[in-house]
Amino acid sequence: MRRKPIIAGNWKMHKTRDEALQFIYAVSNKVPSKNLVDSVICAPFTVLRCLVKRQGDNLRIGAQNMHYLDSGAYTGEISAPMLKAIDVSYVIIGHSERRAMFNETDESVNKKLHKALEYELVPILCIGETLEEREKGVTEEVLKRQLELDLKGLPAEQVKEIVIAYEPIWAIGTGRTATNEVANAACAFIRGEIARLYDEETAQAVRIQYGGSVKVSNIDELMSMPEIDGCLIGGASLKADAFIQMVQSAVNNKAAN
Ligand code: PGA
Repeated sequence: MRRKPIIAGNWKMHKTRDEALQFIYAVSNKVPSKNLVDSVICAPFTVLRCLVKRQGDNLRIGAQNMHYLDSGAYTGEISAPMLKAIDVSYVIIGHSERRAMFNETDESVNKKLHKALEYELVPILCIGETLEEREKGVTEEVLKRQLELDLKGLPAEQVKEIVIAYEPIWAIGTGRTATNEVANAACAFIRGEIARLYDEETAQAVRIQYGGSVKVSNIDELMSMPEIDGCLIGGASLKADAFIQMVQSAVNNKAAN
């Protein structure tokens, strides 16, 4: 099955409104057609609206987190209907930084996935092992457990809509990228688990990204791997030129396969 590649930038806590505007003006008409690739920028809440208004035809905007309830007394939180109301299309769920620093658990990730899908936001679900877990040889166990708990109760039709980002924690922001083979093997394992939990058709439909120190100089090799359908990119997505080049790389490599 041919899966459309998807490149998503994760800006994390970067860019003021002026900086975000500069980026969007430089990028919005330069990314390749949405028929060839999904291009997404996941930005801080404060700039989502201004990016959505200027996103152009081929770029979509995502948030980096959301609450799992519609509304309520949750100071500082943002809900799925709030994101949907301003035409945000994607939302990152369960990023390892949120799991490690903001008490995100598999249980809350699962609730957030249900809620995002209810509001037709495309979730980018992040999973991945720590360095200690990789060195102990328990990477597959960790991925299996995360998938089982995070996807609990979701029907196959909804799982097909989810983008899964395999992000080994030891590769995030460290400059230490997983080798193509390691990244591809983990993505293949994840696809196998989806087949086991659901069926082969669902596994073949779901798009799996690699994330962790992806940059212009290594994205070609990663995107040439058959199980890697895209990348979730932090630091290197902050520069307009680099982002455009990386989206183009996804198109070139998948067209060549
Ligand atoms: P990085 O971050 O590309 O800066 O390593 C990736 C991520 O955290 O999604």
